[in-house]
Amino acid sequence: MKPFKKWFGTPTKDEESIFSLDTDNIPNHVAVIMDGNGRWAQKRGLPRVAGHHSGMKNVKKITLAADQIGVQALTLYAFSTENWKRPKDEVEYLMKLPLEFFPKEIDELIANNIRIRITGWPEALPDYTRKSVEDAIRQTEHNTGLILNFALNYGSRKEMISGVQRIAQEAAAGRLRPEDINEELFSQYMLTAPLPDPDLLIRTSGELRISNFMLWQLAYSELYFTELCWPEFNEQHFYMAIQEYQRRARRYGGL
Ligand code: FPP
Repeated sequence: MKPFKKWFGTPTKDEESIFSLDTDNIPNHVAVIMDGNGRWAQKRGLPRVAGHHSGMKNVKKITLAADQIGVQALTLYAFSTENWKRPKDEVEYLMKLPLEFFPKEIDELIANNIRIRITGWPEALPDYTRKSVEDAIRQTEHNTGLILNFALNYGSRKEMISGVQRIAQEAAAGRLRPEDINEELFSQYMLTAPLPDPDLLIRTSGELRISNFMLWQLAYSELYFTELCWPEFNEQHFYMAIQEYQRRARRYGGL
């Protein structure tokens, strides 16, 4: 067994689950649909945006927990192409979260060698949101540790259509033969390239859907659903999801 990156010290009860993980079978890429922020807040008599704020704080916790065990990439579904349909105030609140998150957390992310990236269409984000994320990408571009990938203004069908359009343009220009189009090439035209496909998808809040998230990339991912809402999904819950992943036998259609 490889040792974990850092030693926790004396484990608290909450941290004990980390010790039962198989360090040789850590998923390289974990993707998360961070659902249930609104419901978490409403259950507590708080406005929905309070749930988003709490959800934002949880991003750091789960990022460090993933880094701790050697996950190489963590993709978080932060805003979908469909989320623009939400009330204007809520969209505006979500768009301002990076402006709070990055200045507050960037030093710790850098200290942990974490690299920020984005999957989606940043050009459609408000200037202040885009600038904030791009600054964080620039500040962390030489880091070589965990890749913290925010799916922001992302939608999987749109991603595939845009990939197909670019492939078709290459073919029409004579730079690509139709017979050269294969799974590997198609993957290179996805916005997630060059990240590997997720090994594990976690969705919080009890919803059993994929919601237009990485439809191509999740073909062989293990799916893990929990009733817990995203703001209450803590490190121990994350390690329980990894434990469940480690109990699964991945067969990729074989025996
Ligand atoms: C879905 O929950 C969650 C979102 C649409 C937003 C998720 C964003 C974050 C957790 C913050 C991201 C942080 C940064 C720095 C970009 P929901 O509100 O739809 O849940 P509900 O189904 O209970 O309404």
